[in-house]
Amino acid sequence: MRLNRKTHILGKTSVNDFLKNYWQKKPLLIKNAIPNFVSPITESDLFIIAQNEEAVSRLIEHKQGIWQVKYGPFKKSDLPKKTNIPWTILVQNINHYFPFAESFLNLFKFIPYARLDDLMISYATKKGSVGPHFDSYDVFLFQAQGTREWKISDQKKFTLDKKSSIKIITNFKSKNSWVLKPGDMLYLPPNIGHWGISQSDDCVTYSIGFRAPGTFEIQSKFLDFIQDHLITNENEIYKDPNLTPQKNPAEISSNMTKEMRNIVDRLRWDKSSINHFIGQLLSEPIENSIFETRKPLSLKAFEKSIVHKTLRLNSKTRMLFIKNNFYINGEFIKIDKKYTSFLKQLANDREISLESTLNKRDLNALGIALLPLYVAGFIDFIQ
Ligand code: SIN
Ligand code: CO
Repeated sequence: MRLNRKTHILGKTSVNDFLKNYWQKKPLLIKNAIPNFVSPITESDLFIIAQNEEAVSRLIEHKQGIWQVKYGPFKKSDLPKKTNIPWTILVQNINHYFPFAESFLNLFKFIPYARLDDLMISYATKKGSVGPHFDSYDVFLFQAQGTREWKISDQKKFTLDKKSSIKIITNFKSKNSWVLKPGDMLYLPPNIGHWGISQSDDCVTYSIGFRAPGTFEIQSKFLDFIQDHLITNENEIYKDPNLTPQKNPAEISSNMTKEMRNIVDRLRWDKSSINHFIGQLLSEPIENSIFETRKPLSLKAFEKSIVHKTLRLNSKTRMLFIKNNFYINGEFIKIDKKYTSFLKQLANDREISLESTLNKRDLNALGIALLPLYVAGFIDFIQ
């Protein structure tokens, strides 16, 4: 199945209408989001990825009234038979493994990359489910193969099952339910109770997940950032040449607290350092990402490749920008303002063909900026 880059995945709903009335606000069912959809990724592909050490996968079964979870990597023999009690396997970050999955995520470009998390794919046998639950993040649930019934609730208060190691709602009340066929999709904002139950033995569901950093994460990571970028005189120490006698030697005097408060108050950060922090934080790759580094290459050889081949971001790479400042996998890219249009194109389209558009000087400047990213394995060439 080939995807058309221009495919509009929201059916009759325009992007403006979706963002204004549904995004982070209310569920939306889109029948036939992609007509005649046939999933190029099937359960056997998932089973292969789930055996990989680096992959993040879970197996969920509902046995004797208890929801049970096992974490991957799985051996093929770990997977229950289809005829066993219903089960579901879920594998995260599928966009790191299949170019099709990466191009599928491109259909959701109407949401900024900084909010996009990954494509997770689940396979379930008939009646397989991960149980009634809610997620803290927005999600599009795209039915790729087989059929699944989705029930959603409009409850504000949930009680959770204490016996289960996964989050299961015990007081779930269904408000709406739909049976999704291949090509149908359901959008859910955060914290909406939902329960998907497979109706076939070949049920494959794609979850397009979004991310949103928590306030604690933003603030605590900002303090770490400030610490790492502290510009101060390390050799300067507290001085008290005007010390006067004090009655209680154990007391910290008001002079001492005042002097030390002044030192703390001298900590300063401006808008541009906060923006640097935001660019670095939001472009961090997913936890435990491994990039395969390359042997150093001469600038000349690299420049030659730039003109003949297409540069593409590695599927694990996150590249974002704030105005003319670029960030890739948590690192700031130093580049002259003159070349930002090339980098913007690379960040937006995730690939760029430079070909003959460059003169020698420009090619050299881009080569200097991009070569370390190539050696780090953040960018690749496609022929
Ligand atoms: C599934 O694919 O079975 C579960 C996805 C979800 O509920 O978020
Ligand atoms: Co969910």
